[in-house]
Amino acid sequence: MGTASNGFALVTPASRGIGFAFAQQLLARTTLPVVVTARKNCSEVRDRLLSSKELPSTADKRLRILEVDVKDESTISSMAETIHRELPDTPLRLALTVPGILHVEKSPSQIDAKNALDSFQVNALGPLLLTKHLSQFLPTKSSPAFSSETHAEGSLRLPSHAIYAMMAARVGSISDNNSGGWYSYRASKAAVYQITKTFDLYLRGRCKERALAVALHPGTVKTDFTKEFWSGREMLEPADSAQRLLEFLMDLEPGVKDGRGRCWDWKGEEVFP
Ligand SMILES: NC(=O)c1ccc[n+]([C@@H]2O[C@H](COP(=O)([O-])OP(=O)(O)OC[C@H]3O[C@@H](n4cnc5c(N)ncnc54)[C@H](OP(=O)(O)O)[C@@H]3O)[C@@H](O)[C@H]2O)c1
Repeated sequence: MGTASNGFALVTPASRGIGFAFAQQLLARTTLPVVVTARKNCSEVRDRLLSSKELPSTADKRLRILEVDVKDESTISSMAETIHRELPDTPLRLALTVPGILHVEKSPSQIDAKNALDSFQVNALGPLLLTKHLSQFLPTKSSPAFSSETHAEGSLRLPSHAIYAMMAARVGSISDNNSGGWYSYRASKAAVYQITKTFDLYLRGRCKERALAVALHPGTVKTDFTKEFWSGREMLEPADSAQRLLEFLMDLEPGVKDGRGRCWDWKGEEVFP
């Protein structure tokens, strides 16, 4: 991977679902180096990504895939070491952190301590540890703004600041909870709203308008995650959700009143905590 003063993009994980769709779009619609992660079978994930339609010939060179399991912090720190080594002095321009797992609990009696811990580890502690190891790559207030490139048709209009987006979920919203259930998933995703806000406050001090953090809700998307509910329910395709979210992110301004630190859905509407 070469260096690029224009920064790099990162999607973790990108093995399937929405993360995979994000990675496909970043390869197709930017010229940035794209770092993606998977828990296993990295070369198989790489082959699947590179066999996506309409990728530019540079995709192969720009794609780097690293093994990360967010339940094992050592894999996150070794990802950071590899980025330092392979992309020296290259700031993180766009980060999408999307790990998620659901153990269904319809009533309190169905709560299983091991499964609940798994949900908190993947959905809440995972994104938290990712901020710990990735924030060092974000531009600081004294960093130069990213330059705007001339864009080919269909390219993403990357802004001049960095964006760090974490996948939350509408069901993590306490004010929106009208149906109950899914105790540990809801609670672990509620934590993502808080992590995002707290991380964004840190970035406001350290990076000013050079970097912002937001949480996202992707809509109800047809992935393995929702397989149980596929029949009889309208769902977004992963590519459509990823496209809408990316386009929303590209337009988000970094001022304190512009929406940073909050959660936004695929339609660009705020999801209140
Ligand atoms: N689909 C929806 O309707 C919907 C709605 C709201 C929010 N979300 C959120 O969107 C995100 C992506 O969901 P999706 O629909 O794309 O689901 P998915 O297809 O089931 O993908 C889940 C992803 O999480 C990864 N993952 C699980 N455990 C992990 C771990 N320990 N370390 C690292 N990665 C791990 C999986 O990796 P492996 O391939 O290795 O298992 C997979 O890449 C999740 O955070 C989910 O909560 C989805």
